[in-house]
Amino acid sequence: AFEVELAKSGETVTVPEDRSILEALRDSGHKTVSSCESGTCGTCKTRLISGDADHRDMVLMDEEKGEYIMICVSRATSGKLVLDL
Ligand code: FES
Repeated sequence: AFEVELAKSGETVTVPEDRSILEALRDSGHKTVSSCESGTCGTCKTRLISGDADHRDMVLMDEEKGEYIMICVSRATSGKLVLDL
């Protein structure tokens, strides 16, 4: 598991190994937009403020990977991700 911090509320949500960031956010009562939920459509694109992302999508270009994350499939390599949510 790893944690995501939601910058706008300061809230921290734990993402278990068997859940996506998107699912963990929904589990904790957050509304999040999505469509494909398989890393191909781009709908769930979220600004990444800090942290090391393990990008598993097919959407982001390399130059975007420091700044954005697709939260339906991607995860953290270690530690915590801070998202602009
Ligand atoms: Fe389609 Fe995440 S919902 S890329």
